[in-house]
Amino acid sequence: MYRELAALIITSLFVTGLTSITEAQQGVAVGVTPEGRTVGDGIFTAEQAARGHALAVERGCVFCHENGGTSGTAPRLTGAAFLSHWRNRRLTDLFFKMRDGMPPGYPDEVADEKKIDILAYLLQENGFPPGPNPLVLDRTVLDSIEISASRDRSSPQNFALVDVVGCLARQPENGWVLTGSSEPISAIAPPRQSMGAAVQAAAGTAKYTLVNVNRFQPATHVGQRMMARGLLYSGARETLLNLTSLQLVGSSC
Ligand code: HEC
Repeated sequence: MYRELAALIITSLFVTGLTSITEAQQGVAVGVTPEGRTVGDGIFTAEQAARGHALAVERGCVFCHENGGTSGTAPRLTGAAFLSHWRNRRLTDLFFKMRDGMPPGYPDEVADEKKIDILAYLLQENGFPPGPNPLVLDRTVLDSIEISASRDRSSPQNFALVDVVGCLARQPENGWVLTGSSEPISAIAPPRQSMGAAVQAAAGTAKYTLVNVNRFQPATHVGQRMMARGLLYSGARETLLNLTSLQLVGSSC
């Protein structure tokens, strides 16, 4: 019995090991850490992010950074512009920016441990999911985590413009959604030209909550197969698609 159990554990370790090697190989070599962890891998806890939120309010980060401040010069710490400063860099770089420069002129006012919690909050606000273990103040750990949503660089990042094809439905809790959808494809060509590729993409199990959908008269397309283009935002609970176009590709799903 014990031997069987041990064999099972060894097999699963072996299989897990193999998977991560394959995944690492798929990534671009530059910037892939030995562990290959990213901020998308649940590297902080929800409690920690909640603590970080309280601290960010208490220590004035929110005051300057959420346009609530009088200066109005501090950039927002969420969204495409913020992520573009840090994408594909180590978590260490973002932490050092906070550790050595924030609040401006008084960086020692907030202890490093507290800034780690604030960092967890910022990651959560940017749509990265919490996980079972808290982020710790450890250079090796911070160095080993990359700021990108996924190990697979070919999958679109948050705020990328993407095309997906799925079935339009209305749900009481989320409003308009695309269900049974394909994985997102980066939108490069104008919608009409890229329709072929998007339509051929296999139907999948992805679900997108559609934002800004009303101008496309969704009620006339219930139960139809639609191609949606929009800005992707993969949050902890749902994946949002902020629409720029919605087109009919099939009269039924
Ligand atoms: C007095 C206003 C003020 C306070 C308080 C403040 N910041 Fe900032 N912060 C700024 C300004 C201005 C910038 C842009 C200039 C720069 O990068 O240094 C900035 C930049 C940043 C950046 C980089 C933003 C980017 O787009 O890359 C981060 C991260 C940051 N602050 C985090 C924090 C945290 C965390 C706190 C609280 C501990 C904090 N700030 C408190 C004014 C403030």
